[in-house]
Amino acid sequence: MSKRVLSGIRATGQLHLGNYLGAVSGMLALQDSSEYETLYMVADAHAITTPYDVNQLRRQRREIIIDYLAAGLDPQKSILFCQADIPYHFELAFYFASVTTVAKMQHLPTFKEKVKQYPNFTSLALLNYPVLQAADILLYQGELVPVGIDQEPHLEVARNIARKMNQDYGTNFPEPQRFATKGEYIPSLTGEGKMSKSVAGSYILLTDDLDTIRKKVRSVPTATEVGGKMSRGVEVLFTLLNFFAPEKHTAFLEKFAGGTLKYVELKDTVAQAIYQELEPFQAKRQEILSDPQYVDQIIAEGTEKALVIAQDTIQEVKQKIGLAG
Ligand code: TYM
Repeated sequence: MSKRVLSGIRATGQLHLGNYLGAVSGMLALQDSSEYETLYMVADAHAITTPYDVNQLRRQRREIIIDYLAAGLDPQKSILFCQADIPYHFELAFYFASVTTVAKMQHLPTFKEKVKQYPNFTSLALLNYPVLQAADILLYQGELVPVGIDQEPHLEVARNIARKMNQDYGTNFPEPQRFATKGEYIPSLTGEGKMSKSVAGSYILLTDDLDTIRKKVRSVPTATEVGGKMSRGVEVLFTLLNFFAPEKHTAFLEKFAGGTLKYVELKDTVAQAIYQELEPFQAKRQEILSDPQYVDQIIAEGTEKALVIAQDTIQEVKQKIGLAG
C-alpha cells in the first residue's frame, strides 16, 4: 500500500515565500510520486487558536485552496480539503488529549512564542494546537509531512502521541517524519529570525507584484561588517539569489569577495528573479479566482475522499479505547 502524506497551512494570511519553499514545494514533489497518496488541507481551525477576524477567516480558508491549485497541486493527484469540514479531526484530537500532559504542551517553544505575542489570549485551544495537528496527520495515518523546520517540535508531539496510543491501546499509528525541502528555513528580510506572517517587513507574498517585491528587497539591511564578513541581511540576499537565480550566485559572490558588489544591483536581480518565478502562479491564481464553481467542486470532492479515510480511523480508535462495542 502506498504511504500517506499529509500537510497543511494555517488560514491566517496569504502565503509567503517561506510557506512556498518550506512546505508547498515539498507537497508538489510528493504528489508526483506514485509511492505516495497525498492529502493537503487548510488548517482553518488552527486559525482560531489566536485572535482572528471571522470574515477574513471565511475568505482565507478558501483562498488557501486557490493558492494550492495555483501553485500546481493537482486535484487528480492530491486530496485537497479544509480541516473544519471533517469533524473527526476534533474528535481524534480529544482522544489524543487524554494521552497528553498539560506540562508538555506548556513547554513547547511554539506555545511560548504565541503566549508572548498574545499574553491576554492564552486559550485552551492554543495549548491544544499541537494535539490537533497530530490528529490532522494521524487521522489519515500520515507517515510523511512536508513542512518547514519550525514544525519539528509539533511532529515530535505527533510521534509521541502515536507511540503512546499504540502502547496503551494497541492502535497501529505510524510515527510521522518530516519531509525536508531545500527551503526548510527561509530567513526574514529584516535579517533577524525567519520569514513569518506575524512579523511585518519579514516576508514577500506570493501575490506581490514586481514593484512591491523590489521595494521589500531593497529594504533588506546591507550595512557592511568589519573584516569583509557578510552581514545577516546580505546573507539573506544570497540565500534568495541561490533559490531564484542560482546561475548568478557565483558571479555575485566573486564581486562581494572582490569588494566591487553594488548592493542595489544584487537586490534588483533578486527581486526580478523572484517575480519571474511568481508570475505564472499569479496568472493561474487569477484564472482560478474567476471560476468559483470549479473551486467549490474541488473542495467537495476532496472532503468526500478525506471523510472516507477519516471515518475508518475513528471507528477503530473508538473501539480500541472503549467508546464503541
Ligand atoms: P503555518 O501556516 O505556520 O506554516 C505553513 C508552512 O510553512 C512553513 N514555513 C516556513 N518554511 C521555511 N521557512 C520559513 N520562514 C517558513 N515559515 C513557514 C511551515 O513550516 C509550514 O510547513 N502548524 C502548521 C499547520 C498545520 C499542519 C498540520 C502542518 C496544521 N496541521 C498538519 C502539517 C500537518 C503551521 O504552523 O503552518
